[in-house]
Amino acid sequence: MTIERIELNNYRNYTRAQVEPCPGITVFIGPNAQGKTNLLEAVYLCCTGRSHRTRVDRQLIRWESDRARVHIVCRRKDGPHEVEILLDPQEKKQVRVGGKSIARSGELMGHVNGVLFAPEDLRMVKDGPAERRRFLDMELSQISPAYYYNLQRYNRALKQRGALLRTGSASAAQLDVWDGQLCAWGAKIMLARRDFIIRLGERAGKIHDGISGGKEALRCEYKTQVAPDKPEDALRESLAEELLRAREEDLRRQISTVGPHHDDMVLKLNGTDVRAFGSQGQQRTCALSMKLSELQVMRDATGEYPVLMLDDVMSELDPERRRQLLGQLDGVQTMITCTDLEDLAGAPVGRRYRVENGSVREA
Ligand SMILES: Nc1ncnc2c1ncn2[C@@H]1O[C@H](COP(=O)(O)OP(=O)(O)OP(=O)(O)O)[C@@H](O)[C@H]1O
Ligand SMILES: [Mg+2]
Repeated sequence: MTIERIELNNYRNYTRAQVEPCPGITVFIGPNAQGKTNLLEAVYLCCTGRSHRTRVDRQLIRWESDRARVHIVCRRKDGPHEVEILLDPQEKKQVRVGGKSIARSGELMGHVNGVLFAPEDLRMVKDGPAERRRFLDMELSQISPAYYYNLQRYNRALKQRGALLRTGSASAAQLDVWDGQLCAWGAKIMLARRDFIIRLGERAGKIHDGISGGKEALRCEYKTQVAPDKPEDALRESLAEELLRAREEDLRRQISTVGPHHDDMVLKLNGTDVRAFGSQGQQRTCALSMKLSELQVMRDATGEYPVLMLDDVMSELDPERRRQLLGQLDGVQTMITCTDLEDLAGAPVGRRYRVENGSVREA
């Protein structure tokens, strides 16, 4: 997949901007606080419908303005694709694909695919399970709209069940209804997460082996309350059993203690948990291995590479890791931000943009 054009209107600190990335490596260079990350954020928004930095869409609209627009044209194997997002604080976010407003948010997925590696991604390794679930959900949704819908249905049922528990007078029959839904959608979610983590882990292990010069073995494990290595029917059954077992506790605590909303993915280096024991550098390298692995997994799933966005990461890597990273970019459209061209030592840059105070021009 190749992005051919990005247009911004009143997005963050841009009044208007147009960028035409090349099929290889495009670099955005400029001092701090000029709008480099904002640009990648806009692309990520068109991939997932969300910013990677905020859940508040309003923050994406330029301060003096009342409407923002991001428009991306890309080319995939099956032809041109076009995504347009309009943000208006008074209205719901409007998404157009191929010029037509979409009816369900999941219809955005699968047109512009992207993997973004930003300093915040360290949180995926360092923070609690919620960050890793968010990672799994975002990536799986991009690959599979069905996953996205199942997740929506699951979350809706979970919310309803929570509201029912909080009334303090939930009957068994009422709970049965929501439990049935949690099991149905939950089993599908778990199945998808299990398969994704297996594929991701295989790739990440190999990549990490290369990056660490064979010194560190990276493993990813799916951590869930129900043994996940079974077919969907059996998974649903196990989930139902666990929900029933936990029912008394759920009623007492008025929360849902069982289900994939408690899942986690454990990352281990040479057998120990990276989150608890990894050094800052090891955690960063793990996050990078996961992201590069994601690139491969997405290619396997969709038949083409997504666009790779590297925000501010080159300066954080030592020369050997930088070299390893650049070695992975063959055939991948890549957008890199940096403050100093020296950070890119050795990279075959195809196009260069200078970003200055909300304006971007080819340099
Ligand atoms: N809604 C908005 N309207 C106008 N300006 C905004 C808005 N949101 C953020 N900004 C401005 O955008 C700038 C930050 O842009 P961005 O994060 O892209 O910088 P950057 O070039 O990536 O910098 P760094 O090198 O430090 O990462 C800040 O100066 C901020 O004030
Ligand atoms: Mg930045």
